[in-house]
Amino acid sequence: KALAILRELEEKCGAPVGRLRQVADAMTVEMHAGLASEGGSKLKMLISYVDNLPTGNERGWFYALDLGGTNFRVLRVQLGGKEKRVVKQEFDEVSIPPHLMVATSHELFDFVAEALAKFVSSEGEDFHLPPGRQRELGFTFSFPVRQLSIASGTLIKWTKGFSIEDAVKLNPFAVSHVGEDVVGELTKALERVGLDMRVSALVNDTIGTLAGGRYYHPDVIAAVILGTGTNAAYVERAHAIPKWHGLLPKSGEMVINTEWGNFRASHLPLTEYDQALDVESLNPGEQIFEKIISGMYLGEIVRRVLCRMAEEAAFFGDTVPPKLKIPFVLRYISNTSLKTRKVVVEVCDIVAARGARLSAAGILGILKKSGRDTVKERDNQRSVIALDGGLFEHYTKFRECMESTLKELLGDASDSVIIEHSNDGSGIGAALLAASHSQYLEVEE
Ligand code: BG6
Ligand code: GLC
Repeated sequence: KALAILRELEEKCGAPVGRLRQVADAMTVEMHAGLASEGGSKLKMLISYVDNLPTGNERGWFYALDLGGTNFRVLRVQLGGKEKRVVKQEFDEVSIPPHLMVATSHELFDFVAEALAKFVSSEGEDFHLPPGRQRELGFTFSFPVRQLSIASGTLIKWTKGFSIEDAVKLNPFAVSHVGEDVVGELTKALERVGLDMRVSALVNDTIGTLAGGRYYHPDVIAAVILGTGTNAAYVERAHAIPKWHGLLPKSGEMVINTEWGNFRASHLPLTEYDQALDVESLNPGEQIFEKIISGMYLGEIVRRVLCRMAEEAAFFGDTVPPKLKIPFVLRYISNTSLKTRKVVVEVCDIVAARGARLSAAGILGILKKSGRDTVKERDNQRSVIALDGGLFEHYTKFRECMESTLKELLGDASDSVIIEHSNDGSGIGAALLAASHSQYLEVEE
């Protein structure tokens, strides 16, 4: 019976190449729709106000704050201009106490501001700002934000494990004067702890990773996060964004945060376990792509499969292990026979392979939208995609499966597409964007 459940899972999670192509096509269709109008698609295609990516000329000391992954990070970076690049980088990593993820935004931002104040107090002798100059910060906030400028925006909704009522603007058309702006909230918290610092850039982690990636590789055109959540950003031609009514940027480009975690299409291989997980989640009906790909959910899907095996096939003996009944409990399994463990491993492999293959399909969708899915090496065009996040970094099997699937999907064009691990690129990226949007504009043109 357990094996029957396993085989059924395998069949339902199947993501053959033909289906992945359908997913990629549906992704590009939704990307077009999301760029056409606000609320035009499940893909929000958020305008980042980043129309210039780092050049390498950025100089000076900048701070960055990275909130929204498993850990929250503060960074201090010294940028040395073209020759010296990143001269110095120091950081502190703090895990977010789970109760703050569901507390009030006031409490969350106070916690963040206090950690930042503590970090600022550790500045060494070499830290130097010209007299009268304020410290500046790039704020990586890894949630969907409707931006009004490079340094302001309102939260559309919380995702992943966060659920904080008072900062949510459920109305997708909400503009900042309707409610609190994320930067305003952080700035107030900084004032409360007595820290004089200006937030000069507010970015999603995908945008930070893209900026950080571009700093080292001029061919970086997109960034993907595979971590607790999943998302992608890419460089779009500004005139291909009908919903953008602002001035056409000089560069002719605009970076778009797709928020692909919220993608869904009839071609997605969904199972009864996914449906149950979704219904019981903090955000039912939302972030469906994310719920079958990202790190926060993979273990939970496996737990649900094992629970059914335990209940219907006495897979772990006569009783269902009580711990297995606890949502999101799954980390490791012990005290089982080799045969049992082999089945468990197979369940994990099936669920992870589905996620990895679908993330490859998502990347193909972005390459298609950018007209880079059929480029051959002889055309002399390279497309580098900056990747980051715990799932990509630590789950080797997942990463290998994603990469080989992408190769398979791209066929002849696969040599022109390069996946690059951008280790903690989003923090440096945010510092770089703070530099290029500094009120003192020290950037050499
Ligand atoms: C980090 C980035 O490396 O990856 C963060 O700096 C990002 O900005 C994070 O949010 C995602 O990873 P995880 O696995 O912690 O969700
Ligand atoms: C979630 C967030 C998104 C973020 C991603 C990766 O999908 O909504 O903004 O980029 O997680 O951290």
